Amino acid sequence: MRTVTVGVLGSGTVGQNVLNLIERRRPVFADMGVNIEIAGVLVRDLNKPRDLPAGTRVTGGCDFLQECEVVVECMGGIERPLELLRPYLRSGRPVITANKALLAERWDELREYALNGKLYYEASVMAGTPVIGPMSTVLRASTFQGLQAVLNGTCNFILTQMEAGKAYADALAEAQALGYAEDPPTLDVGGFDTAHKLTVLARFCADGDFPYSAVQVTGIEGVTQAEIAAARAAGERVKLVAELAPDGQGSWNATVAPKRLPADHALCTAGASRNAMVYEGEESGQLIFAGGGAGGMVTASAMVGDLLDYVLGFPGHVPLH
Ligand code: NAP
Ligand code: HSE
Repeated sequence: MRTVTVGVLGSGTVGQNVLNLIERRRPVFADMGVNIEIAGVLVRDLNKPRDLPAGTRVTGGCDFLQECEVVVECMGGIERPLELLRPYLRSGRPVITANKALLAERWDELREYALNGKLYYEASVMAGTPVIGPMSTVLRASTFQGLQAVLNGTCNFILTQMEAGKAYADALAEAQALGYAEDPPTLDVGGFDTAHKLTVLARFCADGDFPYSAVQVTGIEGVTQAEIAAARAAGERVKLVAELAPDGQGSWNATVAPKRLPADHALCTAGASRNAMVYEGEESGQLIFAGGGAGGMVTASAMVGDLLDYVLGFPGHVPLH
């Protein structure tokens, strides 16, 4: 039996579910001849109660990184995880992450590792609904024409709750309680999380170096109950829509903004906290992806899927060269 030593950074909504799902999938790893050993789990507050497999080594230090074959990063933020991962990545070892902010904003440092197949990040966009996998493999054979997507579970949840008459602040508090929101939630409601995800996607279909700064962002903070009601009366719904479209000059326009869409549009029918993407390829035709886009276990399913891929010898997600 081969032992694969895994270090986990963060044990909040996502990290706890990752650790529990690894535990649940031990028989699958064992069938592959692999024993997963959790070397350590980094947290801030050692006194916080956590739902973790018995015996999990939770710690405030990260010495365990030295002995890891793989690191699963689920702590969030940008500078702190990068500081921890930098020496680790330089040593040639792989990282599994759901951190779209880090990927979008620090591509200058991360790109070479992604190109070398050392970064696995299916969970960073649409959580457990696979879009990065198809876009980094089979869809490369098709000529990309554009995409429209709902990529933020928190905003989708808030807008759906507002349709039902709930106040914006109450709906946001509920999304936070469900574990959907970022810390701080301005990342969600300001549209920045959606812009991070659109940037990550653009690097698989438009430009391997697509800069986060190129996305024009408007959030949902200004959307009023009256606007939502007016849309409903016209058979439409308000969604925070991410869009990547040709600019007519050989490049791409990337935008994130609230939009009114017909109620039967694929981006509207996905569900209250679910995400959806309509992908247009010349040869592939129109493809619709929809499913869970936020929440602990749905995100963990993609991260543990990435760990299985690593164990099987598949490379991480390689952007356009
Ligand atoms: P979370 O619940 O806030 O958990 C963050 C974890 O990281 C906590 O355990 C926290 O420790 C630890 N942590 C944060 N900063 C730390 C530091 N400086 N030193 C040591 N430990 C630190 O966040 P989450 O919702 O799990 O999200 C984690 C990542 O997944 C983020 O990048 C997020 O964007 C991404 N993601 C989240 C979802 C979702 O639905 N939640 C979906 C997809 C992707 P304490 O517990 O001690 O505070
Ligand atoms: N805060 C994010 C959202 C988590 O609401 O979609 C999933 O990336």
